[in-house]
Amino acid sequence: MKRTGRWASAAATLLASAAMLVGAITVHAQDDADSAAPSNPHKLPETDMGVGAMRHYLDIEAGVDATGAVSLAHAAAARNPQAPDAIPIGSATCVACHSQENLQFSHTIHARALRSGALGSNADRTCESCHGPGSLHAASPTVAGSIIAFTHGSATPVETQTETCLGCHTGGARQHWIGSIHEARGLSCSDCHNPMAKMSPEGLLTKQSISETCAGCHRDVRAKFNRRSHMPLPEGQISCVDCHNPHGTVTDPLLKTDTVNGTCYTCHAEKRGPLLFEHPPVRESCLNCHDPHGSNQQTLLVAPLPMLCQQCHTMTLHPNDLQTPAGLGTGSAPDERLMGRACISCHTNIHGSNNPSGARFHK
Ligand code: HEC
Ligand code: HEC
Ligand code: HEC
Ligand code: HEC
Ligand code: HEC
Ligand code: HEC
Ligand code: HEC
Ligand code: HEC
Ligand code: HEC
Ligand code: HEC
Repeated sequence: MKRTGRWASAAATLLASAAMLVGAITVHAQDDADSAAPSNPHKLPETDMGVGAMRHYLDIEAGVDATGAVSLAHAAAARNPQAPDAIPIGSATCVACHSQENLQFSHTIHARALRSGALGSNADRTCESCHGPGSLHAASPTVAGSIIAFTHGSATPVETQTETCLGCHTGGARQHWIGSIHEARGLSCSDCHNPMAKMSPEGLLTKQSISETCAGCHRDVRAKFNRRSHMPLPEGQISCVDCHNPHGTVTDPLLKTDTVNGTCYTCHAEKRGPLLFEHPPVRESCLNCHDPHGSNQQTLLVAPLPMLCQQCHTMTLHPNDLQTPAGLGTGSAPDERLMGRACISCHTNIHGSNNPSGARFHK
């Protein structure tokens, strides 16, 4: 009785803080980058971390949330097509044999949410809401497939594993999971999430942080962030999911916005313009000159100056025949105007200019 009261008040506190959170969120890169420019360009936009989850608490009261996800009020044992005759036996029976797993599980948000019994969840079904009904497994634990297992190489097909999680977590950030590259390559939710233990502060990830979770497979990409020039991902200020939604998107490669530039503008809003004089390659794609994951050139550039510019700008028409091979640092008559900041020592506003006489990006 006392216990129920405590959980009820905990749930009420959560509801209140969720309401505050949802009220405070204005930026949602996932929905529409172009309308998501933060008013303060120095403030990073929020990620989805927990926000979508918290919103569930609010919507759950209505039974089914806005995206069609089944709420806890309807949580039952997950369906296990490999053991159609099994029936639920209750968490206490599972815990009798799996006390170690239960101990670690108890620190997770699922344990708190499902066991609270708040909002109509069936506390007795906690384990079986993910692992499926357990009567056959409890009777003979070594029969493969008798319980839903979430590891590669288990008898449970990956589709059954993901369908189980999606039973409660469909829609929202996972709207495009089906057909995404991670789904197509046979990843299971449990490749990135470990709901059985609290390894990360948020998000029930398999590693301590988002970026380390991704680095488990994308080692090469993570390594590029160690280059001389990089955005502050190793420093923990941004993470892979600021630009990518690992659950699937409509834009390759898993970008959260419709275009590359839209992704960049969510943080570098001042580059969006509008500008009086535009530099066409900037409008086309920031990737014409920058590598988002890191570069050994200055400022994430894909090639050293002045070669970066000379890939597109030939030596014709330029005053003083500045851009000659001889004038380069390695040429026969090095021109100091091509060294150091090179072209951008004169063409300073390379992303475009708002100055009436800034047609050449000098101002
Ligand atoms: C490739 C890695 C990866 C895979 C696969 C993956 N996730 Fe995630 N998921 C993440 C990361 C990273 C976060 C936290 C970042 C964030 O807030 O977007 C997250 C956040 C979440 C959240 C909490 C935030 C929210 O959106 O409500 C839920 C719930 C979730 N994932 C469910 C799933 C389910 C269900 C699956 C399987 C269908 C799945 N995930 C597959 C990486 C992954
Ligand atoms: C009688 C003891 C017993 C009970 C009750 C029991 N288990 Fe198990 N469980 C085991 C044993 C033993 C194994 C290891 C089987 C093996 O290695 O083949 C196991 C394995 C598992 C696995 C991993 C399966 C795999 O294929 O990798 C999961 C998941 C699991 N149990 C969940 C549960 C859940 C959920 C319940 C309650 C519905 C439950 N168990 C009840 C003894 C039990
Ligand atoms: C939110 C879904 C969810 C709930 C609830 C849940 N599990 Fe799990 N369980 C998983 C996933 C996912 C894995 C695979 C974890 C991994 O990748 O190591 C797993 C793995 C296991 C395993 C296999 C051993 C291991 O650690 O890999 C056992 C045994 C197990 N769970 C028992 C339980 C018991 C007992 C409960 C209830 C106290 C429970 N689970 C509740 C999702 C869940
Ligand atoms: C019975 C419904 C149910 C099932 C099945 C379920 N979850 Fe959850 N999950 C919840 C609830 C409830 C929360 C608590 C937050 C909320 O209210 O959305 C949650 C939260 C999460 C979060 C967010 C954690 C955070 O720190 O914000 C992740 C990630 C997640 N679940 C992943 C999974 C994965 C992976 C599976 C499948 C192995 C799974 N869930 C299965 C109900 C479920
Ligand atoms: C379990 C391994 C695994 C993990 C963990 C993982 N990925 Fe992937 N990812 C893959 C595979 C496999 C592909 C497909 C690669 C291919 O076909 O070239 C892929 C593809 C991608 C792509 C698209 C590449 C393209 O060329 O279209 C992006 C972006 C990506 N992952 C981002 C992430 C992010 C962000 C995370 C962490 C939240 C993550 N991945 C975690 C295995 C993983
Ligand atoms: C600042 C935004 C941003 C961040 C942060 C970011 N990416 Fe990317 N990522 C991109 C863009 C933009 C592309 C498209 C590159 C292209 O088309 O050449 C991309 C491409 C990819 C690809 C496919 C092509 C390739 O380069 O291999 C993978 C895989 C990938 N990212 C994974 C990750 C992982 C893992 C992290 C975190 C360690 C991460 N990204 C962080 C923006 C970002
Ligand atoms: C989640 C926010 C975020 C996103 C999205 C983002 N950036 Fe950044 N970027 C930063 C931060 C933070 C810095 C570091 C700013 C500082 O140190 O003053 C930075 C710095 C940079 C720098 C300067 C690096 C240097 O060495 O001085 C370049 C160039 C850059 N970003 C390009 C891009 C491009 C291109 C994209 C789109 C693919 C992008 N950014 C997307 C947050 C972001
Ligand atoms: C034509 C090549 C080119 C393109 C395309 C380009 N940039 Fe740059 N960018 C540069 C150069 C060169 C610098 C170094 C400027 C300096 O050191 O003064 C730079 C510097 C930056 C910086 C750090 C200094 C600053 O101005 O804040 C950021 C951030 C940045 N670029 C973001 C972007 C974004 C976002 C896009 C796409 C909208 C983009 N760039 C497209 C060439 C380019
Ligand atoms: C991907 C190709 C590309 C790269 C790289 C590039 N530019 Fe441009 N730039 C263009 C195009 C296209 C125009 C528009 C030309 C026109 O309107 O005739 C342009 C216009 C300009 C102009 C204005 C010229 C005019 O006639 O109005 C200047 C100045 C300029 N670029 C300087 C640079 C500098 C400096 C760099 C290196 C930091 C650079 N560009 C890199 C493609 C590029
Ligand atoms: C010492 C200053 C200075 C440096 C360094 C410089 N420029 Fe210029 N650039 C100018 C001036 C001044 C003009 C305008 C000339 C005019 O309006 O007739 C100009 C014009 C241009 C134009 C417009 C078209 C043309 O050819 O007249 C382009 C493109 C251009 N520069 C590219 C570059 C590139 C690429 C570099 C580096 C290799 C570079 N500039 C380095 C001063 C400089």
